Amino acid sequence: MTSALPLPPKLRWDDFIAAVRPRLAATAKFSLEEPLAAKTTIRIGGAARLYAEPGSAEDLRTLLIAAAAAGIAVFPLGRGSNLVIPDSGVDGLVISLAQESWATFEPRPDGRVWAGAGLRLKNLCGLAAKAGLTGFEFLEGIPGNLGGALRMNAGAMGGWMFDVVEAVQLITLAGEIRTVPRAAMHVDYRHCAELHAAIALGALLRPGSHADADAVSRQIDVYKKKRQESQPRDPSAGCIFKNPPGNSAGRLIDQTGLKGERVGDAEVSAVHANFIVNRGAATSADLVELVRRIRARVQAAHGIDLEPEVLLYGKNWSEVL
Ligand code: EPU
Repeated sequence: MTSALPLPPKLRWDDFIAAVRPRLAATAKFSLEEPLAAKTTIRIGGAARLYAEPGSAEDLRTLLIAAAAAGIAVFPLGRGSNLVIPDSGVDGLVISLAQESWATFEPRPDGRVWAGAGLRLKNLCGLAAKAGLTGFEFLEGIPGNLGGALRMNAGAMGGWMFDVVEAVQLITLAGEIRTVPRAAMHVDYRHCAELHAAIALGALLRPGSHADADAVSRQIDVYKKKRQESQPRDPSAGCIFKNPPGNSAGRLIDQTGLKGERVGDAEVSAVHANFIVNRGAATSADLVELVRRIRARVQAAHGIDLEPEVLLYGKNWSEVL
């Protein structure tokens, strides 16, 4: 068997666009060398060799099947809040459900709510409050969308995304659409196994109970205030490390005196030590070096290996640390 010689990378990406573009709706965005830094909350990193914003499940399916056939890696992009893009960018197809068609919020007569993966958590929280639905208040201020929150089992203020999920509709990288009940999913702290090689399309959510809209809004305000007092406003990727069991990464880092430690423009936040903030022109190399330094200091002081929570797109942290 002879294997085809690899084409020069630029040509290969061009060829993929030329072959797939005619099979997508005109409204789908599809581009080469799309800068990604501005699509993340920490504003770091290079470009996607290929980038697509499909407007429908059909277009998403077409993209996934074509990428699989061409051997091109696929990277789902949520709101980019838990993500560091390497400076060299991403060798593959980045797919974002940023088009409005993915941001649905549909309360059902039985009290449950269908929400699209592209719905921002802030909007989910606000729409639920308006409808007098409780249970989503903890999502206030998490700068993500539903798809990313499912992928990471996002959590805050004692609540977890999967606390309010009944079922997730997903599409596998082979293009197969499935609805998986919560009970059949393997969900853990900042982790959902079923979404490692699949993209969430939306979820059936189960609100807690009905309350008057003002009461829900008041609870949201309490969380908002708490977050504003304890977390930095500068660009960041949220918490950098997972909390070790029974402990707090922020407190452990703080105790080593690392607040304000800086590599280039990446800095350990003075507000909360488990955040690295971008003071202007930080690179992913700066951030990785700072992560290395923090881990070494915490290991030396406390004998604990901190595990990164944020994803390093297209790489494993173990390769770079
Ligand atoms: N602390 C310090 N110094 C610091 C930061 C925190 O001493 O610089 C202490 C606090 O005083 C507190 C304890 O550490 O006693 C815990 O801090 P905090 O209440 O801020 O909670 P956290 O465990 O650091 C977690 C989540 C956050 C989430 C908050 C609020 C993780 C890794 N972090 O933070 O999630 O917003 O609770 O519920 O699970 C994220 O995942 O990106 C994230 C920001």
